[in-house]
Amino acid sequence: MRKAARRSRSRGPRPAGLKEIVQLARTAREAAHAPFSGFKVGAALRARTGEVVTGCNIENASYGLTLCAERVAVFKAVSEGMRGFDAIAVVVDSPHIAAPCGPCRQILWEFCGDIWVRMENLRGRGTTRRMSELLPLPFDQGNL
Ligand code: THU
Repeated sequence: MRKAARRSRSRGPRPAGLKEIVQLARTAREAAHAPFSGFKVGAALRARTGEVVTGCNIENASYGLTLCAERVAVFKAVSEGMRGFDAIAVVVDSPHIAAPCGPCRQILWEFCGDIWVRMENLRGRGTTRRMSELLPLPFDQGNL
């Protein structure tokens, strides 16, 4: 079976417009405050209305207070009253694909559910997954 056919059967059709949010995440990445790790991350979260909110990682000298790009984007959006999202793009400068960290996956699941996650590096290499692939068997409101 062709790779594309296998992919679309397991994950459903790809959402349109991922390139646009990847570009927004690339730009957002430039604002990252990452003097300690040197690892800049950009994120762009798209609402079902088409509106996009971006985020970048913001580090702190106390290290533990560091905020990831994904959570900055989610909290910016939620704090503006936005709900209902369908995709997020995450961009890093690394030969390896950087997937959202564990805490970000939990936060993304809470506010975005089973959205598409496009992970890409500056060379345009990447992968697209669903949140349910990144966080199988999640803990959420349904468990309470
Ligand atoms: N980082 C993110 O922004 N998102 C992730 O999902 C993983 C890690 C940031 C946090 C820190 O500023 C830097 O990358 C190195 O861990």
